[in-house]
Amino acid sequence: MTSTGSHRIGTADASFVFEQANDDHSLLQAALRQGMAFPYECSSGGCGSCRFKPVEGAFEVLWEEAPGLSRRDRRKGLQLACQTRATSDLIIEVSPDEGCRPLVIPARRRVTLASREEVTHDIVEFRFTAEEAAAFLPGQYAVLENADGVRRCYSMSGVPEGGSDWSFQIRRVPGGRFTEWLFGAPMGTEVVLDGPYGMAHLRPDVDREVLCVAGGSGLSPIVSILRALAGLGGGRRIHFFHGGRTPRDLFAPALVEELGLGDRLEYVPVVSDPENQLSADWAGATGFVHEAVATALGERVREMEVYFAGPPPMAEAMQRMLMVDLGVPFGQIHFDRFF
Ligand SMILES: Cc1cc2nc3c(=O)[nH]c(=O)nc-3n(C[C@H](O)[C@H](O)[C@H](O)COP(=O)(O)OP(=O)(O)OC[C@H]3O[C@@H](n4cnc5c(N)ncnc54)[C@H](O)[C@@H]3O)c2cc1C
Ligand code: FES
Repeated sequence: MTSTGSHRIGTADASFVFEQANDDHSLLQAALRQGMAFPYECSSGGCGSCRFKPVEGAFEVLWEEAPGLSRRDRRKGLQLACQTRATSDLIIEVSPDEGCRPLVIPARRRVTLASREEVTHDIVEFRFTAEEAAAFLPGQYAVLENADGVRRCYSMSGVPEGGSDWSFQIRRVPGGRFTEWLFGAPMGTEVVLDGPYGMAHLRPDVDREVLCVAGGSGLSPIVSILRALAGLGGGRRIHFFHGGRTPRDLFAPALVEELGLGDRLEYVPVVSDPENQLSADWAGATGFVHEAVATALGERVREMEVYFAGPPPMAEAMQRMLMVDLGVPFGQIHFDRFF
C-alpha cells in the first residue's frame, strides 16, 4: 500500500477492476482510459453521476466542495470518481453503466494554440493542433489543463476528418479562472488535452429527423454535430434552435450559410430578454428556447433524434419538456450540461 506507482481499483467480487496509473488525474479517468463502463457525465464534479462507495483502501479528494455530492451522499460516505484519486489499492462499490463505455478511448496529449476567431461578443473559437491525429465523435468534449493545473471541460466544435485540429467555442466568463487565462494566452501556448469524453455524440446511423438545441455557451457541441451532419449528406431534416439573451449572443446566420444545408435546415434563433435595449430591433422568436421548441414542433419531436447542450437550468427545462410533457423516448435524447 503506497501512494506512488499504480494502484488496483475494483469491486470486492473482482468483477470490475482497473489500474490507476501515475499520470491518471482521477479514478474516473483511469477507468475510462481502460475502456471500463464507469458511470459519468460531466467529469467536472457537477452532476453526481460518477458516485461510488469506497469500501477499503486510501484515497485523496481533489475538490472537497464539489456540488455533485448532496449532504445525504456525504453522510452515506459516497465519493465522486472524477474528484477522487486512489493513494493505495482500493475496493469500491459501483454500478457499471454500459452506455458510458468509451467508443473512442480517451488519452492525454499536448496541444498548441494555433488560431482564434471571434464568434460572438463573448465567444471565441480556439483551434489547437496536436502532433497526432485527433480522435473524437461529433458532440464530445475534452478536458483542457493549463500550466497552473486548472482543468475545465470544453466541447469540440469541429469534426475530426483525419486532421490533427481540436477546436472549441468558448465563452469568456468574467473572473473565471480558466477562461480569463485562455482569452489572454498568446499563439503557441501549450495545454494538456485529455479526451474525448461524453455520450451526447451524433448517432450518424439513426435516420430520424434531427432536433439540435443550443443555449448560451452550449453552442460548441451542436456546431460539431451540425458540421458532421452537413458532411454526411442524405435527406433528413434538421431543426436547429439557438437561444441567447439578446441578438448579439446569436451568431448562427454565418454558421447556417457555412453549412450549406439549404432547405434541409430549419434555423430558429430565440431571444430570452426582449425588453433589453440590445434586443430593440429583434423581430424573431422570444422566450426560453425550450418553449420555442415546444411551440414550433410540439409532439412531432417524439419522432426526432434530439441533441442539446447548455447551462444546467436550460438542460433541466429541456429534459422535463421532452420526457414529461412530450414523451420523447429516453434513448432519442442526448445532452450535456455545462457546469
Ligand atoms: C461537459 C462540459 C462541456 C463544456 N463545454 C463548454 C464549451 O464548449 N464552451 C464553454 O464556453 N464552456 C463549456 N463548459 C463550461 C466550462 O467547463 C467552464 O465551466 C467555464 O468555461 C468556466 O470556467 P472558468 O474557469 O473560466 O470559470 P470558474 O468560475 O473559475 O470555474 C467554473 C467551473 O469550474 C469548476 N470548478 C470550480 N472550482 C473547481 C475546483 N476546485 N476543482 C475542479 N473544478 C472546479 C466548476 O465546474 C465550475 O462550475 C463545459 C462544461 C462541461 C461540464
Ligand atoms: S462525472 Fe463526476 S460529478 Fe459529473
